[in-house]
Amino acid sequence: MSKLIAPSILAADFANLQRDIEMVNNSEADWFHIDIMDGVFVPNISFGMPVLEAINRHAGKVIDVHLMITQPERYIETFANLGTDNLTVHYEACTHLHRTLQTIKNANMRTGVALNPHTNVSLLEDVITDIDLVCIMSVNPGFGGQSFIENTYKKTHQLKEIILDNNATTQIQIDGGVTDKNAKQLIDAGADVLVAGSYVFKSANPSETIKHLKEIANA
Ligand code: DX5
Ligand code: ZN
Repeated sequence: MSKLIAPSILAADFANLQRDIEMVNNSEADWFHIDIMDGVFVPNISFGMPVLEAINRHAGKVIDVHLMITQPERYIETFANLGTDNLTVHYEACTHLHRTLQTIKNANMRTGVALNPHTNVSLLEDVITDIDLVCIMSVNPGFGGQSFIENTYKKTHQLKEIILDNNATTQIQIDGGVTDKNAKQLIDAGADVLVAGSYVFKSANPSETIKHLKEIANA
């Protein structure tokens, strides 16, 4: 199965959002990764529903929403109505994760769970067959442009083992500090989807950079 690239819109130029969305539409990227931050779960605020609604009007690929908010269960229906395909909540933000996952499923979205760098992958063992996508945070969530945490390789490998042991079909996504320098090692450790923000959007030719990453991931 081919490995996927998900440019993170957080690093786009919000004054030229339509241009950047079209760039992703016309590139070899697979998903739009969209970071929603509430200023409580993480020490930053990104953007909310009106912006997601505008993105969805132009985006021609899978909408992958990463919620960095407390009590994400409050907004599951809202995100479904905004055209979200994958809805990822943080493990650390969910008291009743199993229930939250069922609610996401019942709203006809794919289920995602994100893990902060300190959260052990083994904590997902009892719900792994209910998760379509695990997002391993390879930086502390809240900001783009941070440097990659090396322990991520080990976590990715451990999670892959859990997925295989449980005959699950869960995809592994890596989010934060992804570049052409770590992409191959992440894929070799078991990653299926690479999120890349700054590396793509701050490059001279974002479309070429996506292509380059896609080639490395599928080499
Ligand atoms: C961080 C976000 C990431 C971020 C990645 O909280 O979840 O998706 O946009 O950005 P880069 O690739 O610049 O680390
Ligand atoms: Zn993200």
